[in-house]
Amino acid sequence: MNKTLDFKTIRVKTHTEYDVLIGKNLIKNAGKLIKQVISPCKIAVITDDVVDRIYSETLVESLEKQKYQVVKFVFHSGEASKNMETYTDILNFLALNQLTRTDAIISLGGGVVGDMAGFCAATYLRGIKYVQVATTLLAQIDSSVGGKTGIDLKEGKNLVGAFYQPSMVICDVNVLSSLPERVFRQGMGEVCKYAILDKEIFEHVENNLADIEKLVYLCVDYKKRIVEEDEFESGNRKLLNLGHTVAHGIEVFSNYKIAHGDAVSMGVKVVINSAYRLKYIDNETRERMLNVISKCSDCVLFKYTVQEVLQAVVYDKKRSGDLISIVMVHGIGDCRVEKIKFSRLMEYFI
Ligand code: GLY
Repeated sequence: MNKTLDFKTIRVKTHTEYDVLIGKNLIKNAGKLIKQVISPCKIAVITDDVVDRIYSETLVESLEKQKYQVVKFVFHSGEASKNMETYTDILNFLALNQLTRTDAIISLGGGVVGDMAGFCAATYLRGIKYVQVATTLLAQIDSSVGGKTGIDLKEGKNLVGAFYQPSMVICDVNVLSSLPERVFRQGMGEVCKYAILDKEIFEHVENNLADIEKLVYLCVDYKKRIVEEDEFESGNRKLLNLGHTVAHGIEVFSNYKIAHGDAVSMGVKVVINSAYRLKYIDNETRERMLNVISKCSDCVLFKYTVQEVLQAVVYDKKRSGDLISIVMVHGIGDCRVEKIKFSRLMEYFI
């Protein structure tokens, strides 16, 4: 625990190393914290209109206090903005404001902002530094850590992107108490995934769910270990896609009306039930898992059949040729990546 400010640090040792800071009152101290890794320079804060209204002023003030020169780009909140048009608008904005290679970007927001700002940082001038200030549960436990950046095409989500690690990730847990219930639940959808992947997280959700700060810490710590082992997702990082094949189908099939986190919680449930049907887990384990999932999210696949949603995954990134990587559940904290023929997907998940 840091002496002056109340936060914990998790060091992520990928090909470039950085800290994830988890604690309270971090946004208003962001300038001081960021100064440890980026010298005063021009900073482009990239955010969406919802987050802008709540946190930009505090962040900008703390940066200016540390002598950063701040410019800000705000785009309309939501997945629909994570496209080529917003991307080029931001690049033009960075160029017009004459950001150079020694300048930096700060992403202030949730997963969409983080993916977009990160991808701009990865590609503008062939790469400039960036910091993730994550303002949703989903961003704090998952998307802000590990360097996945990207934007969507009409044909599917995140089809353009880069692995590009940030210089620092700031998770101010104060922001979580003011999240709309719907946004908080979407983060809990990704918690469902972590709970099945890791026994300690499972037990935390089972017995101590009210301690959200610890939950963020445990998820980031799990993710750190995975991305250190497999930064570019050629092996075990694929475990983080648990529930995501079905989730991806749900998102596409619902025309993105069902949010990613909600779709993940439904996808994880489908995988648990499949694991039981395939006799990888017994009924007692299945019940215990479903009970933990229901503590996180009450989303149910009410409108669609699994068959329908799986038809929507033809563009899935996890597919390579005729094969697709899926994550199967064999126990609490025991999930395994399996490559199966795409044509056999239905057999697994229905
Ligand atoms: N969100 C999954 C990953 O970063 O690999």
